[in-house]
Amino acid sequence: MANLSLFDLTGKKAMVTGAAVGIGRGCAMALAEAGADVAIVDIDEKTGSATADDIRAIGRQSFFIQCDVTAKDQVQQMVKKVANKLGRLDIGVNNAGIAILGADEEIDQADWDKVIAVNLTGTFLCAQAEAQQIIRQSPVEGKIINTASMSARIANCNASYDASKAGVVHMTKTLAVEWGRFNINVNCISPSYILTPMHASTPAVVRERIRQTTPLGYVERPEDIYGAVVFLASDAANYVTGHDLVVDGGHTLNAWLAPLGRQIPPRISPDEEPVQMKADLDRMGIEYDRDGVNPDLHPEIANAFKQAFGI
Ligand SMILES: NC(=O)c1ccc[n+]([C@@H]2O[C@H](COP(=O)([O-])OP(=O)(O)OC[C@H]3O[C@@H](n4cnc5c(N)ncnc54)[C@H](O)[C@@H]3O)[C@@H](O)[C@H]2O)c1
Repeated sequence: MANLSLFDLTGKKAMVTGAAVGIGRGCAMALAEAGADVAIVDIDEKTGSATADDIRAIGRQSFFIQCDVTAKDQVQQMVKKVANKLGRLDIGVNNAGIAILGADEEIDQADWDKVIAVNLTGTFLCAQAEAQQIIRQSPVEGKIINTASMSARIANCNASYDASKAGVVHMTKTLAVEWGRFNINVNCISPSYILTPMHASTPAVVRERIRQTTPLGYVERPEDIYGAVVFLASDAANYVTGHDLVVDGGHTLNAWLAPLGRQIPPRISPDEEPVQMKADLDRMGIEYDRDGVNPDLHPEIANAFKQAFGI
């Protein structure tokens, strides 16, 4: 008999990094909707506090903690503060990440170092501090979920980003092996291209190409990660560890990159795709056109796509 309370997170204590906007905010809201109290961790205080307000509005405990995940002392203090305020830590979602695009034959070492520092080292520092906290608790058990990317499997972005995400996937496996003896499950989620502020500068033509070449026929949204993060955080995933849960609508399976014909509309229409991204941009006070595009937010991403698409 299926037991749906397996997915219930009532009473669980969680933290999410990079939770001010985008995928992190989506994960935090999903965990809260499933019953968890959730600490919001980010460098951006204004939008991070707004996310914590929204979680309190649905009746869960939540607060914002400012922390740069690349600084070990800040990470250590942050996890202690989370556990003090929530009473313990059951679920750590390590999601903060950045991309700095550019031609790899020219990229500055400083840019390479920054991407690795946030995406790989920052994810490790958070996972380490969370594991230390979970090991101190009784009973000793918890769930750690890292945000990786389809870029871990395919050459999608540039070397620093793709390598950092491949590192996250493999680090997840290593930590799963090491920390299983503490009843800690370590898994990661690999989205494809999700409409978040990170992609607000991506030209609309790119989204159309994604719709045409993705089997499920629409561009991924933060909402599309909700089920994955709740599953991996819940008792339903108690025997799942070291897993990379790819949530990409089949995007990375279409090796020919050929447009896929379809007779019926996809579940989500183009107008519905950017709803959360636009809400995030509103919270950040950033303007955009009707598709939710602002080329000035991440000009290097806009330029990289323009070059790739010859526009
Ligand atoms: N958007 C996508 O298409 C996509 C696809 C696959 C994976 N990802 C990954 O998902 C994660 C979230 O991406 P997003 O699209 O929501 O990005 P985003 O830029 O919209 O949001 C990232 C958040 O992380 C915060 N952040 C950045 N550096 C930080 C630091 N040093 N310490 C703490 N917080 C920091 C930012 O303030 C922001 O709130 C990242 O790891 C990203 O690499 C994104």
